[in-house]
Amino acid sequence: MTQKNVLLTGIKPTGQPHLGNYFGAIEPALKRADGNRDNFFFIANYHALNTIDSAEELKKLTHIIAATWIASGLDPSKCHFYKQSDIPQIFELETILNATVPKGWMNKAHAYKAAVDKNRADKKDIDSDVNMGLYNYPILMASDILIFNANKIPVGKDQIQHVEIARDIAMRFNSKYSTTSLTLPEYIVEKDIQEIPGIDGRKMSKSYGNVIPLYGTEEDWFNSIRRIVTDSEANHTIETFKATTFYGIYHHIATEEESQKLCESMVGHNIGWKEAKEDLMEKMIKRFKEPSSVYLDLLHDTNHIDSILDEGAKKILPIAKETLGKVKKSVGVI
Ligand code: ADP
Ligand code: TRP
Repeated sequence: MTQKNVLLTGIKPTGQPHLGNYFGAIEPALKRADGNRDNFFFIANYHALNTIDSAEELKKLTHIIAATWIASGLDPSKCHFYKQSDIPQIFELETILNATVPKGWMNKAHAYKAAVDKNRADKKDIDSDVNMGLYNYPILMASDILIFNANKIPVGKDQIQHVEIARDIAMRFNSKYSTTSLTLPEYIVEKDIQEIPGIDGRKMSKSYGNVIPLYGTEEDWFNSIRRIVTDSEANHTIETFKATTFYGIYHHIATEEESQKLCESMVGHNIGWKEAKEDLMEKMIKRFKEPSSVYLDLLHDTNHIDSILDEGAKKILPIAKETLGKVKKSVGVI
């Protein structure tokens, strides 16, 4: 029997979504999901606890991520849309899995390793500022995936290792308890997606403060776009122009034809950076103004967002209970 595809992905509510998140994660995941009802999209609010320590901020960011998914085209009546904290079985499963996961696997997980490397470089204790949430992060992420028997996990390149660990955890559990309770997940990474540069030329990331916000007001966009680094190179060739930070951002939003036209205008000195930025602003408006108004409307009625998420969780609790039931039986607690 071939197994049906169950696609699942989550986003942490740790900051305002930006263009990098949209083109690198949100849009491709929604495209993959098209037409199939077995899709799970969730807000990983327990994962966010590792970095967000204000209750008010976490609530606000949870609404922001929910509104972002919906404004981006997610239809809650056609998929499973929920927040992690409403599925308590995830955390019970995590406790059971904790007993089967070798500590060495966590030592090698990249987020923990990066924190250790940074502490070493800063001549601090290697575990300085590392909480157990960060250390156990891959086990919680495995539980998110395994509780719903998901087998296709669309993620960015940085999350491949976590999905591989989830697969290893499932295999180890199944073999240890001679069961097939846990479905083996695999990651999906879109080949064509490049890293989108931020306005300072480094990877666009909320941790660098170099983002163009995805949804918001024209003023929000304008304030970021005007700060995109530009050079004073007077004689760009098509190649050198294509290598600029500006083009790195622009070509994701514009069509191929529009991008080609901009290259020619810049190389031919028909326009300068000012006009190029105005052009980008126009493209942002054309592409994101309408979803931005959906987004802003949703955020005015957070009770409505909460009820969508509550409903979403209720529908899938039976699946989570069934998986947890099998796992509990396998280990001998029921
Ligand atoms: P950030 O770097 O802003 O903290 P996250 O680590 O929360 O972003 O990433 C959430 C998702 O968005 C991941 O799947 C990641 O691969 C994707 N993503 C983040 N930044 C970019 C970018 N600059 N270009 C492409 N994809 C990105
Ligand atoms: N760790 C993912 C990120 O940082 C978010 C996430 C949490 C996730 N649980 C997941 C993604 C399960 C896919 C599946 O982007």
